[in-house]
Amino acid sequence: MTTFRTDLASPAQIKKSSICSSEDLSNHRHPAIAACSVTMAFQSGNQHFHVLRDINLAVEKGDVQLLMGPSGSGKTTLLSILAGLLTPTAGKVFLLGEEITKMSRTKLAKFRLHNIGFIFQGFNLFPALTAIQNVEVALNIKGIKGKIAKKEAIALLEQVGLGDKIDRHPKELSGGQKQRVAIARALAGSPQLIMADEPTAALDSYSGHAVIELLRRLAKEGGCTVLMVTHDPRIIDVADRILHLEDGMLSQNKTGLDKII
Ligand SMILES: Nc1ncnc2c1ncn2[C@@H]1O[C@H](COP(=O)(O)OP(=O)(O)O)[C@@H](O)[C@H]1O
Ligand SMILES: [Mg+2]
Repeated sequence: MTTFRTDLASPAQIKKSSICSSEDLSNHRHPAIAACSVTMAFQSGNQHFHVLRDINLAVEKGDVQLLMGPSGSGKTTLLSILAGLLTPTAGKVFLLGEEITKMSRTKLAKFRLHNIGFIFQGFNLFPALTAIQNVEVALNIKGIKGKIAKKEAIALLEQVGLGDKIDRHPKELSGGQKQRVAIARALAGSPQLIMADEPTAALDSYSGHAVIELLRRLAKEGGCTVLMVTHDPRIIDVADRILHLEDGMLSQNKTGLDKII
C-alpha cells in the first residue's frame, strides 16, 4: 500500500493528505488529482538522471493548487506526468479516482480529451483562425459540432470577457486576450481539471490579474480543480495550497511566502 508523506505538511494539509492509500484513491474518497511515489528519470547517453523523486501529492476538488520552484526543478515534467502526457519511470497517478498510469494509450487519450483543459504559456492558437474558430475547433474534437459548437464557443468567449472580439485573429489580439482565448479553448467541453503551465508568464499586470481571477472563479464557482505551474507571486493570493519543487523533491506550505520573500 502506498502512502503520502505528511511530514512536510501543516496540520490542515495533513488532514487533506490523509486520503492517501491506493485503495482510498480508487474508492469514493478520492482527491481530484493524486500522485503516489512518482519518480522520473531521463536518459543521457548511458546515464540516467532523476528529475523527480518519490513525489506524493493530492489536490482536492475545487482547489487552486500551485506548483512553484526554480527553473529546471521539474515543474513542467511533473505537470506533464499528472496530465498523462508523460509516463513516469515509476509511481501511480490518479485523476478523478481513475489510475491513468495503467490506462491504455487510447483510453488515456480519450480521458484527457474529456476531463482535462490545458493552458500553456505560448497560447498555441491557430494563427489563421479567428478567436471563435479556435474555440470551435476544440469543441469539434470533443464531438460538439455545428450550430451547437458555435453557440458554445460564443458563450465561452463571453465567459472570458472576449464576447466583442470573437472574429479577431490572434495577431489582432493582445497577449492577455490571446491567453484568454486559450483559456476559453481549454474550457471547451467543461473539463473538470484545468492544468496550466505558467499561464501568466508573458502577460502584463492587468492581463495577468484578469487571467488569475478567471482561473480562481473557475475553481470556486465552476467547481473545476486547477493545478498551475507558476513563478507569479500574484497568484499566491488565490491559491489554496502551494507545492514547492526543488531538486526533484516536493515540499508544501500554505502560503509559500517564506520561500519567495
Ligand atoms: N524529454 C527530456 N529529456 C531529457 N531531459 C529532460 C526532458 N524534459 C526535461 N528534461 C530535464 O529535466 C529537468 C526539469 O525540466 P522541466 O520539468 O522542464 O523544469 P521546469 O519546468 O521546472 O523548468 C531539466 O534539467 C530538463 O533539462
Ligand atoms: Mg517549465
